[in-house]
Amino acid sequence: MKKIVLYLVLPLVVFFVAIQFVPVSRTNPAVTADLVASPEVKKILRTSCYDCHSNETKWPWYSRVAPISWLVAHDVKEGRSELNFSLWNSYNARKKKQLKADIWEEVEEGRMPVKMYLWTHSKGTLDKKKIAILEKWIRAKK
Ligand code: HEC
Repeated sequence: MKKIVLYLVLPLVVFFVAIQFVPVSRTNPAVTADLVASPEVKKILRTSCYDCHSNETKWPWYSRVAPISWLVAHDVKEGRSELNFSLWNSYNARKKKQLKADIWEEVEEGRMPVKMYLWTHSKGTLDKKKIAILEKWIRAKK
């Protein structure tokens, strides 16, 4: 028993503590050109998408614990680079149109929000009603 602690548990604990010192970027840059849409559309996007696709990420406590923190920070970084609602109004018409098409594709096929995100954010689940509201926004010209 003592040997197990010495050779297995102790190194694991040391490793776990050590990885906590790897720097992780958890920034929320300024919101400069937030999406303008109806309150009901905004509410859905805020609840289901903004944590990864805006500069208003609510960083949960486990985003401070490695190695989960690496996963969360990676998702936010990738998510923002693909689509950032905090910058939406700075995108030109062509980009907005393309992104709306991409959003519809992801939502219709159930790829967004990310499955793992929903484990801890069940409110972010999109039901038929929410999807219909998003569809109307996506099909509207503006
Ligand atoms: C947990 C974080 C997370 C949440 C929540 C999330 N996304 Fe994403 N999203 C990502 C990541 C990471 C990528 C880039 C990698 C990929 O495409 O899977 C991405 C990519 C995308 C893309 C680009 C896909 C492509 O390849 O063209 C769109 C569009 C998108 N998300 C829309 C949404 C919408 C709409 C919601 C809310 C209904 C949402 N996402 C919620 C993390 C997230």
